[in-house]
This record gives sequence, C-alpha cells and structure tokens, in this order.
Amino acid sequence: MILLIFFFLFLVFVPILIFMLYTLYAIVRGAPYVPLSKDKVMIMIQTAGLQSTDTFFDLGSGDGRLLRAAAPLVKQCIGIEINPVLYYWSRLLCRRYKNITIKRQDLWMVDLSTATSISLYFIAHKMDALATKLNQELKPETRVVSYGFQFHSWHYTQKNKNVYLYVFPQRINQ
Ligand SMILES: C[S@@+](CC[C@H](N)C(=O)[O-])C[C@H]1O[C@@H](n2cnc3c(N)ncnc32)[C@H](O)[C@@H]1O
Repeated sequence: MILLIFFFLFLVFVPILIFMLYTLYAIVRGAPYVPLSKDKVMIMIQTAGLQSTDTFFDLGSGDGRLLRAAAPLVKQCIGIEINPVLYYWSRLLCRRYKNITIKRQDLWMVDLSTATSISLYFIAHKMDALATKLNQELKPETRVVSYGFQFHSWHYTQKNKNVYLYVFPQRINQ
C-alpha cells in the first residue's frame, strides 16, 4: 500500500517539478506559460486572416489551443514548445487533428521559412530580437499576429483590441 502511495505521488509530483523547472527555463529563453482565454484566441485567429493554403506556426504553443482553433482553417499547423510537460499535454489534446504537428524545441533554433502565418504571445523585452529573426527567415507576405506585445521598430498593419498584425519581412528602419 505504501509503495502504491509513493508511486502515485511520484506520478503526480515529477511532472509538476519538470513543469516548474522548464517554466523557469522558458522565462530565460522567452516567456512564461500564460494561456490565452477562448475569446482572445478567437481575436488572434480572426486577426491572422487565415487561409486554407496557410502553414500556420504558433511560437510557444502551450497546450495547443491556438493550433486547435486554427487547424480547421489552414493546410498545416505547427506548434513549437520548449516545455516537455506542455509538449506532451498538447499532443494529447491535439491528437484528433491530422494537420497539427508539435515540436519540442526552442523557437530560437527553429527555421521559420516554411511559415505563411505565425502567432505568438511572447514577452516585451525579447520582441525586437524575435523580429530580427522573423525578418531574416520569413518569406514575403508572411503574416504575424502578436498578442499584447508590439515589435517596437516595426510597422503593424492592423490592431484588433490587444492583437497586432504585422507583415514580414519589412525594410529595416531601426
Ligand atoms: C505566454 S505562453 C503562450 C501559450 C499559448 N501560445 C497560448 O496562447 O495559450 C508562452 C509559451 O511559450 C513557451 N516558450 C517560451 N519560450 C520559448 C522558447 N524559447 N521556445 C519555445 N517555446 C517557448 C512557454 O513554455 C509557453 O508555453
């Protein structure tokens, strides 16, 4: 019986510990996990103007909620998530969607050149470094929606509540 209790505690606490350690790591590499509410997900999806030909990336995909909202509208959805607990949890939640792929990777290491549409909910002080990466890698006319945070030296083409729509690459005027 005691062994069973220990096994149960192990099953519960090890994922919690890994989640917390990777949340700290995610803060260093990017942003903490703060999921978007349903209505904010809908505003992101509307502002992104998704098309059936799109390859949609969510950078820091959390539990995959943006991927699931986008999947019926686009050709392919790719989530990039650094936290292994969120990666496995999102894979479980997204298992019914054939056009969703989730990668457990650091977004700074991912080649984004196949994307035609990108969403992100990141962090203020890393936005300009991310914009530089997007500007170097993205194909012409790639749409990027950002929740809450702007790319300061870059022009957005639309603002919908707290969501900014950018088209990359842009001529640099930093
Ligand atoms: C603010 S949450 C957004 C989650 C999800 N996109 C949503 O809207 O509900 C940021 C997510 O990015 C992930 N993340 C942070 N830094 C990352 C990095 N360098 N590479 C990949 N994922 C990262 C975090 O683990 C977290 O899940």
